[in-house]
Amino acid sequence: MKENPLIKSKERVREHGEVFTPQWVVDKMLNQPGIKEATENLQATFLEPAAGEGAFLVEILNRRLNLAQQISHSINEYEENALIGLSTLYGIELLEDNVEMLVMNMMSEFERHYYQVIQDYSASYNKKVFQSAKVIISANMVQGDALTRQTADNTPIIFSEWKLLPKKHGKRRVQRLEFMFDAIIEQGDANQTVSQMPEDEQLDLFAIFSDEQPKEEETQLRYKEVSLLDVGQQIVEEVE
Ligand SMILES: C[S@@+](CC[C@H](N)C(=O)[O-])C[C@H]1O[C@@H](n2cnc3c(N)ncnc32)[C@H](O)[C@@H]1O
Repeated sequence: MKENPLIKSKERVREHGEVFTPQWVVDKMLNQPGIKEATENLQATFLEPAAGEGAFLVEILNRRLNLAQQISHSINEYEENALIGLSTLYGIELLEDNVEMLVMNMMSEFERHYYQVIQDYSASYNKKVFQSAKVIISANMVQGDALTRQTADNTPIIFSEWKLLPKKHGKRRVQRLEFMFDAIIEQGDANQTVSQMPEDEQLDLFAIFSDEQPKEEETQLRYKEVSLLDVGQQIVEEVE
């Protein structure tokens, strides 16, 4: 199979150190003891701070989705396991065109596996699964600078944790919590979600829902606990 070129231009190599890793090196690195086991654990977290177009993350996703298929006994179980395996993969990439490719490559890998598994089970395509995968990938693959820990708009990079909760009526539930990348690295505040921070340190996390800046007396919002397949709806609730 023909591989993609490893560099796009000499300027990009010089300015951003952009050299993509060939598949055989990716495989070799991911097969290292300790790493290999984590690629095969749906809940082990990976963060690629210079993700490029996803050479590593897409391969990890591929391995996770194969695993999800092996350990699942029904299409419903596969859908949940596949989303869990996806939700623990994170990437940061500086350049816009690379992030677009990264997101697209993660989506197509997820979709390619899903279509295959649907056929094996003679099941039908559930739009909610792909919708949830789309939201998880968009939240976990961030355009930003891993060194300054800021996005392209000079705001702090925020990551979502997809915290797994006990099953309810046979369905796996999840709560989306948001953390500043900076706090995760510095450890100190890694357990503090953005909505628990002092008001002057909080971000307008929900700017996507409104054009207006929140006023001081405005209620804080957080994502609601939902079943994994409803993550795509991004339902929020007021924090008491
Ligand atoms: C050597 S390439 C590796 C890409 C990918 N990991 C791979 O193996 O194919 C480095 C990547 O890091 C990106 N990059 C450079 N500086 C960065 C920074 N400060 N924060 C995030 N990404 C950065 C570049 O745009 C480039 O895509």
